[in-house]
Amino acid sequence: MTEEEPPYPSDSDDLRYVVSTADPREYWDNKAATFASGERERRSGRFRELYEECCWRYIEPVLPRHKDGLILEAGCGTGRWVFRLAPRGFRFVLADLSAEMIRYARERVEEQGIGEQVIACHALDICDMQTLSSESFDLVLALGVPLTLSNEPGRAVDECFRVTKSGGHIVCDAANRYRTALELARQNDVGQFAEVLATRAMSNGSPGSHTTILGPRSSQAYSRPRG
Ligand SMILES: C[S@@+](CC[C@H](N)C(=O)[O-])C[C@H]1O[C@@H](n2cnc3c(N)ncnc32)[C@H](O)[C@@H]1O
Repeated sequence: MTEEEPPYPSDSDDLRYVVSTADPREYWDNKAATFASGERERRSGRFRELYEECCWRYIEPVLPRHKDGLILEAGCGTGRWVFRLAPRGFRFVLADLSAEMIRYARERVEEQGIGEQVIACHALDICDMQTLSSESFDLVLALGVPLTLSNEPGRAVDECFRVTKSGGHIVCDAANRYRTALELARQNDVGQFAEVLATRAMSNGSPGSHTTILGPRSSQAYSRPRG
């Protein structure tokens, strides 16, 4: 992860997040079993429903017109939208930085009997999706903030545009510090809650590399020049 500050507005809601591992792949690999167990979803409760409903309002109007349209779920974790959308007939490619997340995602789609619609699963960085052809997807979903978690959000946005067909769509989201503070409040982590609101920074242990979780304004600043 770079030490360079990205060109985001200084009054933004970005959050500087210091993780205690130098390797983000390892960090997400270690979270994969919890994601796959559904424990995280259960803890989120009503918040998850609200989040999915908000996303759905953006996804539904831009779904591929033809039933076998191809959708990329980038930063898919152990899979989310594939389970909701595969029953409509769409085909999917699943991609995530973490090989462990991808392993669980593959297992889960097989369990759900939708394996045939998932034509490929890739462990890759959203900033470098060279394994995916240009202009190949009707819809790219980058939800659960992989764009803003990535090392180089500008490159990540470029890559999403490159793999999207002309006339296709990208739906992505961004976390801001209030979202993170809310999560900490739910966990009763009063110390980090106050730190995040006051300093726009948090850490999960000993100092290591850092990433900047971009808020909506910064994300727009990255996306706008790219159309
Ligand atoms: C908060 S989780 C969201 C997972 C899933 N999209 C969901 O909604 O449940 C963030 C995911 O982004 C992935 N991720 C983080 N950085 C990434 C990168 N540079 N490229 C691709 N995926 C990344 C993580 O491995 C993790 O699975």
